[in-house]
Amino acid sequence: MVCWQNGRFRKRAVHFLCCATIAILWPGICAAQTPANTQLAAGDLNRRVEELLQKMTLAEKIGQLSQYAGGFLTGPNAEQVDISNLIARGEVGSLLNAVGAETANRYQHVAVDRSRLHIPLLLGDDVIHGDRTIFPVPLGLAASFDTGLARATTRMAATEARADGINWVFSPMVDLARDARWGRIIESNGSDAFLSSALARAYVEGYQQGDLGKADSVAACVKHYAAYGAPIAGRDYNAVDMSELTLRQVYLKPYHAAVEAGVATVMSAFNSLNGVPESANPFTLTQILRHEWGFNGMVVTDWRAVAELINHGVALDEATAARRAIEAGADVDMLSDIYRTQLPALVKSGQVPQPVIDEAVRRVLRVKLALGLFDHPYATGVAYVAGRSQRALARRAAEESFVLLKNEAVSGGEKILPLRGTETIALIGPLADSQADMIGSWAASGSPQDAITLRTALEQRPSVRRPLLYAKGTDVLSDSEAGFAEAVRVARQADVIVMALGEAAAMTGEASSRAHLGLPGNQEKLLEAVAATGKPIVLILFNGHPLALPWAAEHVAGMIEAWFPGIEAGPALVSVLYGETNFSGHLPVDMPRSVGQEPLYYAQTNTGRPATGIDLSHPPGSPAEQYVSRYLDESNDPQFPFGWGLSYTHFDYGVPRLSTQEVPLAEAVPAHADPLVTVTVEVRNDGPVAGEEVAQLYLRNVGASVEQPVRELEGFQRVVLGPGESKTLRFTLNFDQLSFYNAQLERVMEPTNYTVFVGGNSLATEQASFQVR
Ligand code: NOJ
Repeated sequence: MVCWQNGRFRKRAVHFLCCATIAILWPGICAAQTPANTQLAAGDLNRRVEELLQKMTLAEKIGQLSQYAGGFLTGPNAEQVDISNLIARGEVGSLLNAVGAETANRYQHVAVDRSRLHIPLLLGDDVIHGDRTIFPVPLGLAASFDTGLARATTRMAATEARADGINWVFSPMVDLARDARWGRIIESNGSDAFLSSALARAYVEGYQQGDLGKADSVAACVKHYAAYGAPIAGRDYNAVDMSELTLRQVYLKPYHAAVEAGVATVMSAFNSLNGVPESANPFTLTQILRHEWGFNGMVVTDWRAVAELINHGVALDEATAARRAIEAGADVDMLSDIYRTQLPALVKSGQVPQPVIDEAVRRVLRVKLALGLFDHPYATGVAYVAGRSQRALARRAAEESFVLLKNEAVSGGEKILPLRGTETIALIGPLADSQADMIGSWAASGSPQDAITLRTALEQRPSVRRPLLYAKGTDVLSDSEAGFAEAVRVARQADVIVMALGEAAAMTGEASSRAHLGLPGNQEKLLEAVAATGKPIVLILFNGHPLALPWAAEHVAGMIEAWFPGIEAGPALVSVLYGETNFSGHLPVDMPRSVGQEPLYYAQTNTGRPATGIDLSHPPGSPAEQYVSRYLDESNDPQFPFGWGLSYTHFDYGVPRLSTQEVPLAEAVPAHADPLVTVTVEVRNDGPVAGEEVAQLYLRNVGASVEQPVRELEGFQRVVLGPGESKTLRFTLNFDQLSFYNAQLERVMEPTNYTVFVGGNSLATEQASFQVR
């Protein structure tokens, strides 16, 4: 097709005019060859869409593009409208937060029984890390590097959501997050495009099962398109300003992966991208999403993002906001009530062409038909119980999400962990017994009462002394030291202290950016007071922002990143503390030493003045140490790097072997073709116990026309190894991994030199090289 091209910059202006206008007026003309979701392209489904469309009035069509809140609010300033009446008039296409079988069915009955055309509602909800069974927050789940686990948890979430009447989940969130100040980093898969893309596919597969029509499938919604995770200064909702090269090379990848996996819907972000608000951005919503990627599902804006176009300053009034958004490709208006009130007049006056409306309505109806809502619109209402299978999956997910950051020897010469079962423990800290915090932010319909805390789980353990020595010490956010004395008192009676510190769940997630990344309140002071007893400490961190804790990293013997682990928090933690389950999580982000290092991510470029080989722990002592890319007062290095994660055993990597040392320059090679390079590497568990390793493959590419990151993840595998056991792992590298965008924004391979690193974190040293010629 003449109009279609894969992001070629030179022809973009022409292409854009060509497609943005023509494609909206004559849908299908500019679409990419393969529809992203083949189910939404089925002939029969489209015939039914056209039949419905023929019968619809303009008000009913615009109704399909209008979404309202059917329950609690997850944003500000929702318009107050009489929803039931509007639904009965056919002027509502979807609701959010109409949660619970009774509520969902009540609204659904109005749509199906009372509206003229009986079109069912899409009922959406923020099912982010489980619906009723709450799993670790997404950043924690990403630490598992386990796509099978992500499929299993989203599968369970979909079944539970459907029982509650929810047929559409606002997940996965795949915004790459490289700045720990940004509160929503907790909802992300971390900083890496390869990992996030793999998880994006797994989430979509879990929710949709490749068949939206199954009674327990839900439509997924990949968000927040695009690059919402890179706001200036890490402040939520702030503008994103980024080169198109970085956008395409890095940030767009996970959304594209979700689209390729068949995601049914996309949410446009709040922020502006290079000056254009994303919910009125034809470049991202039409050119890239529709024309380049062939996305054939529907786009919903984020909460009142159409109304916020006025705040952005790109629309003087609601009519202009409506026109800009719908013409850019935002099909559904979440909660602004602007499409319903403004579009009719705009269409009648010819300012918005009727075909633009029709095409948006088609996209909505396709999703509804594919979901089978016309046949089974109602919640099954199956009552929820956090039973054996739910708890087993929640526990496995939590165990896999924990990252053992540090485990040092204490007096006696043995490492502090695992606990032996004979020692007296003191449990201290405001997060040791907080059910509400364990389920984290965006806990959908989850109940804090289902969460088992660390205190409860330890108290239930037969070997633990009763009553358990426990002191809260302080609150998460407090400056009162009233509880310190009691904390120190119980600490003195113990052999080992387990401290549960971190953030409250409410300090993470949307609208929760932080300018400081230390422990909130006076928790660090509490930690120092307890450490002054000289007793060995295992610090368990519950948090959503990667925290900067240099004092703790130096002074405690054991450190565990636990995120917010979900309903099985306590039992899962007890299991790893006592070594009944081995640690296997690895960091999906870098943990900083100082907030001033942010945004901090391992895949940075080398610069012309790299600080390689320089001791950065001291201020520069010579010009050679000074005139390099560094800080005067802090190391460049993270406290703990991306991919980091210890275990109770040790894994040894052999030198990677390559199928070839010379790869011929290739133009796009299909992903299913023979790989260009195969990497094999032996991993051996040379420690004392069984363990599960996340083997990671990184690439470094030098000699390209555009500078490339110092290394980038291009493969990972989880591998289970008994003590002394070894396995040969095989990784493949294809065109996608060996190509990159050049300055003309063409995706190319060039004659360059590659180094392959394989190991257990992003500092991996075992390496091999090949060339592209
Ligand atoms: C705003 C959030 O940005 C988005 O992630 C969420 O899905 C919507 N509100 C609906 O609650």
